[in-house]
Amino acid sequence: MQDDHEQALGTAADMGIAWLRSLPKRPVAPTATMDQLRSAFVSELPEHGLPATDVLRDLAAAAEPGTVAMAGPRYFGFVIGGSHPAALGADWLSSAWDQNAGLVVGGPAAAVAEELAGQWVLDLLGLPAAASFALVTGCQMAHFTALAAARHHVLSAAGWDLATEGLFGAPPLTVVVGGERHVTVDRALRFLGIGRSSILHVPADDQGRMRTDQLPLLLRDLEGPVIVCAQAGNVNTGAFDDIAAICDVAHDSHAWVHVDGAFGMWAAASPKYAHLVNGIERADSWATDAHKWLNVPFDCGIAVVAHPRSHRAAMSVHADYLEHDTHGDRDQMDWNPEFSRRARGFPLYAVLRAWGREGVAAVVERCCDHARRFAETLAVRPDVEIVNDVVLNQVLVRFGNDDERTRAVVAGVQKDGTCWLSGTTYQGRAAMRISVVNWSTTTDDVDQSAEAILRVAATIS
Ligand SMILES: Cc1ncc(COP(=O)(O)O)c(C=O)c1O
Repeated sequence: MQDDHEQALGTAADMGIAWLRSLPKRPVAPTATMDQLRSAFVSELPEHGLPATDVLRDLAAAAEPGTVAMAGPRYFGFVIGGSHPAALGADWLSSAWDQNAGLVVGGPAAAVAEELAGQWVLDLLGLPAAASFALVTGCQMAHFTALAAARHHVLSAAGWDLATEGLFGAPPLTVVVGGERHVTVDRALRFLGIGRSSILHVPADDQGRMRTDQLPLLLRDLEGPVIVCAQAGNVNTGAFDDIAAICDVAHDSHAWVHVDGAFGMWAAASPKYAHLVNGIERADSWATDAHKWLNVPFDCGIAVVAHPRSHRAAMSVHADYLEHDTHGDRDQMDWNPEFSRRARGFPLYAVLRAWGREGVAAVVERCCDHARRFAETLAVRPDVEIVNDVVLNQVLVRFGNDDERTRAVVAGVQKDGTCWLSGTTYQGRAAMRISVVNWSTTTDDVDQSAEAILRVAATIS
């Protein structure tokens, strides 16, 4: 048994390291098609087993041509972080230790690492020290968790006991969102029983920011409990809502303010960019990710709530067979929608320990510098338009003011393999989206990628 573990983990480490070493040079896009991959994997459920090392070798041989070099320095698609070595190592240890981090009794070290990592996140983001938090799978589940707390809180203030009565017959609850909130806000609301007809949209401006000037009028006419969702970092443009102004207006109407800051909230960790999230500490809940800008491996999202009682009331669970903590320590499942869960605190603690406050600020600032360098390099060509104000790490690019050509350039760059980025339709026009959040991206990676983009663009008229 011991030898099996040694051989399997040794093989996995060797192959993992070889793959990581190949990242700077391998094509960023996968090289195998879905059909090729289906035939490379064993398709029938095997009747007989295989030794672990053989399984791992087979798996790597079948899977590797179908992997995307997402953890590498020239992946600029969606908003995807890489894996910092300390975080990745701690993640491997989390698997080896295999703690069930739902209860303190399931692994006290996991509980302590999570507790500290959570407190460090509050400190880095300038959020209230007394706020509660949860480590979940991603920002969407962070919305779900925080908005569940919000739903509980505003209904309770309206005299409704949600835990007993459920949503049927509850006072109608309205959620106000910006015209360009991320789709996961709507999805989290749907999971919480809040449908489209309860969601009101405030129009967005040309950068995707909520038109805050329209908020007072809209809130004035609303009756009953209200939640306002603001955004720190638009998924296309990186733009920030005016969170201070939103908090002023919403709190005057006793509304709860939730902030989607999946990546943009990390601006708060940099003295250079913190002004973008001015007033953020006055919101009632926040959702962000560690698997984006903190470069923790998937999956790690973070929900933070300024009203711990409502947070706990929305999430906590009790069963007689569970050994709940009785010493005042934090059982993670009381703050979380999950029951059994991975010890996400270890990799989060590890990356913050490795970087410290300075390192987090440095990665944010470096990525923003890279984004600006992309914009400046690409904009030199007269047929290239930078669509957004590059305020953070996101760059939107159009070619020849032409949707078809822009989409063809995105497809051509993906195929070329030097770098990978995705396309979007922004305010009705096709655009290339470049998102820089990887800790290992260098200026040289940006230059190589910009050169590849311009090279591909020159071949498409
Ligand atoms: C602004 C914003 N909110 C929410 C999400 C969803 O995050 P996750 O994929 O971690 O659930 C994203 C993902 O890119 C995002 O950019």
